[in-house]
Amino acid sequence: MTPLPLPLTNFEPETHAQIERVDIELPLGRSYPIWIGEHLWSSPQIWGSLPKARLALVVSNSVVAPLYAQQLIDTIKPHFERVELLALPDGESHKTWETMNGIFDHLLGALADRKTVLFALGGGVVGDITGFAAACFMRGVPFVQVPTTLLAQVDSSVGGKTAVNHPLGKNMVGAFYQPEQVVCDLSVLQSLPARELSAGLAEIIKYGPIADMVFLDWLEIHLASLINKDPQALAVAVKRSCEIKAWVVGQDEKEGGIRAILNFGHTFGHAIESGLGFGEWLHGEAVGCGMVMACELSHELGWVDRAFVTRMTQLIARAGLPTRAPSLGVQTYLEHMSHDKKAVGGEIQFVVIKQPGEAMVCKAAQEVVVRVIEKCTGH
Ligand code: NAD
Ligand code: GLY
Repeated sequence: MTPLPLPLTNFEPETHAQIERVDIELPLGRSYPIWIGEHLWSSPQIWGSLPKARLALVVSNSVVAPLYAQQLIDTIKPHFERVELLALPDGESHKTWETMNGIFDHLLGALADRKTVLFALGGGVVGDITGFAAACFMRGVPFVQVPTTLLAQVDSSVGGKTAVNHPLGKNMVGAFYQPEQVVCDLSVLQSLPARELSAGLAEIIKYGPIADMVFLDWLEIHLASLINKDPQALAVAVKRSCEIKAWVVGQDEKEGGIRAILNFGHTFGHAIESGLGFGEWLHGEAVGCGMVMACELSHELGWVDRAFVTRMTQLIARAGLPTRAPSLGVQTYLEHMSHDKKAVGGEIQFVVIKQPGEAMVCKAAQEVVVRVIEKCTGH
């Protein structure tokens, strides 16, 4: 894989504004801003460029809607004749075609048209389903991401991957479909349970070894502040994560090449998620453990030294994430990994760390992969 051609802006943790804007640059009018800050919804500059429409539908879930839906509806109401709310059932097990069909039922019942704007208010599950519904309804209606988990603010709401799960694999049915904008209000993270915060930290940690070791150094120092939901630390981490993601997606929107590095830890992680049954481990927990496995693989292949694997494993553990893989059996791992979207003709591809701060995609001999699985599951 060729090195990234665009320079990534320097990491500047000391300078940050009350409202941060990171732009994701894409061709053909698909560029959009990511807004980051505390109590953002009340700021007029955020909603100034909303598409004109009669109807807006806020899609949320049974946990997030009671906490934040009314506040969002009150904020966006002046921009539309009508704003409706649909609360989906909560959880990864509801990230299905059937749940998405419920959004179409609601839209058709409300006489939605091609201009209707969808707002995804929730974590990655709501964001992924709503984005996919927006891509499909009347062949595409605008949507806005309003992520409310750390994971969604640093990863899933940015970059236009939308999907639902299929019983045979995670995120197997979906589309690349970009939002109009992403609004990351950090204040809503205060109600996030600790376990969910840790899941978000996994996707933040990911950006260090694949792109920015200075950021990894910063994370090691400020991890406790992030766990304590310090607003300043959260602002820095969310902004830097979005900058790195925007930099990668800006070069490879549909994952023809370099975007695959964002899946570091995900090949093993998805096998854990589907092997255990969706929802048993959180996505971020599976990615955390998957990163440990991917670091071990990078070491087995001769790319990184043992000290790097230990460093990553310790940080992932400190973030409150599992580092020991569940004993699913080697065959289960291999079978689930062969369904990974990076697999070509059933041959598994892995994202490995070539050197700290640089990732690449490669194949690995089965006996090496088996060794990694056995080591990480403790057999
Ligand atoms: P989630 O959407 O299930 O949210 C986690 C839990 O937190 C849920 O119970 C939710 O109701 C609750 N919650 C959300 N916001 C809250 C708040 N502010 N306060 C209290 N509770 C709140 O999970 P997630 O970790 O946000 O997202 C995981 C999903 O994202 C997975 O389906 C994964 O595949 C997907 N994902 C997609 C991408 C992408 O690029 N599209 C990237 C990474 C992950
Ligand atoms: N979360 C991986 C990606 O957006 O490509």
